[in-house]
Amino acid sequence: MQTTHNSTIRFGSISGSLKLLPSERIVFITSSALREKASEKLPLEIGSGRWIEVPDGESCKTFSVLESVYYALLNFDAGSDTVLVAIGGGSVSDLAGFAAHTWKRGIELILVPTTLLAMIDASIGGKNAIDIGCAKNVVGSFHLPKDIICDVSWLRSLSERDLSSGMAEAVKHAVLDGEEHVRFFEQIAEAHSPLTELDGRTFEELVRLSQEVKLRYVKADPYDSKARHVLNYGHTFGHAIELLTGLPHGFAVAAGMGAANTLAVSRGALDPVTQGRIASLLRRFGLPAGIQEAFGMVDRALDRRALLELIRADKKRRGNKVDFVVPHGIGDVRVEAIPLDELAEALRV
Ligand SMILES: NC(=O)c1ccc[n+]([C@@H]2O[C@H](COP(=O)([O-])OP(=O)(O)OC[C@H]3O[C@@H](n4cnc5c(N)ncnc54)[C@H](O)[C@@H]3O)[C@@H](O)[C@H]2O)c1
Repeated sequence: MQTTHNSTIRFGSISGSLKLLPSERIVFITSSALREKASEKLPLEIGSGRWIEVPDGESCKTFSVLESVYYALLNFDAGSDTVLVAIGGGSVSDLAGFAAHTWKRGIELILVPTTLLAMIDASIGGKNAIDIGCAKNVVGSFHLPKDIICDVSWLRSLSERDLSSGMAEAVKHAVLDGEEHVRFFEQIAEAHSPLTELDGRTFEELVRLSQEVKLRYVKADPYDSKARHVLNYGHTFGHAIELLTGLPHGFAVAAGMGAANTLAVSRGALDPVTQGRIASLLRRFGLPAGIQEAFGMVDRALDRRALLELIRADKKRRGNKVDFVVPHGIGDVRVEAIPLDELAEALRV
């Protein structure tokens, strides 16, 4: 059990963690795709309570779905002592976090992350958000969950592609963390087995290690004003790649990490051996290790101009420079102001 600020991370079954909470205080929120599986994991006396079902995936992060959540809470007569229990991936937790923050000026939130990405990243740190049209995560707040309940048996029903996508953020955390963490991943990769065949104990260790890294940055910078920015490693190029290719978030971030590494090697910050090590780790998990590879995966020619336009529009741009995460080595990753011309140059490789 780990405690950070107001959040406690518990490993194990959801029913064990919820049994002390009076069922009349609980409102569950989950996606239509997970509703049945969520009920199966709960004993009848807890699971037969009040449920809100929202559309699957990113499509739940809209104002209209948020409004429907508020109406459901109203119909349930949810008061300030209500606990919203969100069961799902990062999309459900982002929506539920914002709803919990704003309903009656803030109610308790419990997160039950069901994807690898949600366990190691989205459930931690209190950030939530909804989208406006194509603009992702533009409306949001900070609202720490009281508990985060991690039951790695949820990961068994994820596809190899979904697990790979989560692995990108896990590899990112390992590179931020240090040599031992990266070796742990190399050992998993050396086993050459599909991620769907990883055993529960390895997943639990992987999730714990990865959460510790994110927690360290969250504690140092709870409101994401400086120290936490290194968590954006791979994301400047990644967001642009995601928009242009439609690849899952983790695939785009992996390609963005590869591109950031190329830039770091060209400015003498990173040695090519480390660059190769990170690239082979990403590829072993089925991820692209560069921008060309990402576009190759969707059979599309790399549109450098469109990519650069999106980077120019990045919120981290200041004048003709972008605050960009540059890896200097395993366990040594820094935020530096990089001229747009240099970013454009990295796209040529
Ligand atoms: N708030 C944060 O700090 C933060 C950090 C990272 C990402 N995010 C957000 O997280 C979202 C992405 O989250 P995600 O990758 O978890 O995807 P997701 O929540 O969109 O879920 C992806 C798909 O996986 C399915 N799914 C979920 N759990 C499953 C399971 N156990 N078995 C089978 N299928 C399952 C869902 O039904 C959905 O179809 C994005 O909206 C992103 O912006 C937020």
